[in-house]
Amino acid sequence: MSLASGPGPGWLLFSFGMGLVSGSKCPNNCQCQAQEVICTGIQLAEYPPDVPLSTRRLYLNDNRITFLPAMNLGLLSDLVYLDCRNNLIREVMDYTFIGVFKLIYLDLSSNNLTLISPYSFSMLSNLVQLNISNNPHLFSLNKYTFANTSSLRYLDLRNTGLQTLDNAAFQNLLTLQILYLSGNPWKCNCSFLDFTIYLIVSHLNHPDDQNATCVEPAELVGWPITQVGNPLRYMCITHLDRQDYIFLLLIGFCIFSTGTVAAWLTGMCAVLYQNARRKASEDDAEEEHGQRVDSSRRIFQNRVDSGQDGFPQLI
Ligand SMILES: *[C@@H]1O[C@H](CO)[C@@H](O)[C@H](O)[C@H]1NC(C)=O
Ligand SMILES: *[C@@H]1O[C@H](CO)[C@@H](O)[C@H](O)[C@H]1NC(C)=O
Ligand SMILES: *[C@@H]1O[C@H](CO)[C@@H](O)[C@H](O)[C@H]1NC(C)=O
Ligand SMILES: *[C@@H]1O[C@H](CO)[C@@H](O)[C@H](O)[C@H]1NC(C)=O
Ligand SMILES: *[C@@H]1O[C@H](CO)[C@@H](O)[C@H](O)[C@H]1NC(C)=O
Repeated sequence: MSLASGPGPGWLLFSFGMGLVSGSKCPNNCQCQAQEVICTGIQLAEYPPDVPLSTRRLYLNDNRITFLPAMNLGLLSDLVYLDCRNNLIREVMDYTFIGVFKLIYLDLSSNNLTLISPYSFSMLSNLVQLNISNNPHLFSLNKYTFANTSSLRYLDLRNTGLQTLDNAAFQNLLTLQILYLSGNPWKCNCSFLDFTIYLIVSHLNHPDDQNATCVEPAELVGWPITQVGNPLRYMCITHLDRQDYIFLLLIGFCIFSTGTVAAWLTGMCAVLYQNARRKASEDDAEEEHGQRVDSSRRIFQNRVDSGQDGFPQLI
């Protein structure tokens, strides 16, 4: 059923039952025209009721909205453009955008986001442009956040509280072209190494790369994170800490003891071999003379005689 052709009776019943929408009206103080609804700057404290179901472009920017209701948003199954810039949205949950899977453009910039749930964008496989900039209380992004946004081309992460990023989060973003990363307090420690290597090998466009710099550690303060890959690799890979020394010590000890045991075994073998040979030649001699006991006694006595101080000479 095409919703643009007018709501049917079943749908109306459903709508009244939900108490959510009336289908074709325009929200108070907004402008509606040709599948476009503009509610810019009208002091909205919450998501407006009565957004037409056929809406393709929805402008909610410059209001005081704190929360995006998944139920209402989910009714706009044709929505391709959603501008929520300059509001007070605090959280984006796994189900927030579950119904607006045609979304191409999503602007969440200049809000008060503290949390973006790991699967928030998992249905947005058509999303091309995502703006999360200017959310200073957003301190982390999960590595699955962008797992399914495989059409993403522009990603703006400027001016947030992000200190680090996991390069695994970017693995599926094969069409990504422009990535903004400036104005974040990047912590360039060894956990950050893989991401900085990704920045070097991915050939993305970073229009703001000179302003995307490390704030830690002291040696790298002010370095652009697009250039920090090699120094960081040097620091993290050649740097040895206590664990490494213990490991090396253990390896050294193993090699030493293996060597000792091997030398000892070789010595034993040599001695045994010599003994065996000597014994074999004695046996030969014995067989020649046919006097085993006598000859062995004689040899023993010879040895005793030849030893000084009466001690038998063994070697
Ligand atoms: C933004 O969120 C932070 C942390 O939750 C809170 O302390 C602050 O008051 C919020 N700011 C506004 C303008 O709501
Ligand atoms: C990605 O989308 C596909 C369908 O488009 C879905 O089956 C899969 O569960 C999604 N993955 C995640 C991590 O949400
Ligand atoms: C993202 O939003 C900020 C603030 O609203 C804006 O200045 C910036 O140009 C936007 N980024 C992109 C790529 O459009
Ligand atoms: C690096 O910094 C991040 C962000 O503060 C932290 O989560 C991580 O544990 C740190 N890693 C190391 C190896 O110190
Ligand atoms: C970098 O930051 C400075 C000062 O904040 C600003 O003047 C400049 O335009 C920024 N450059 C880019 C490329 O964003």
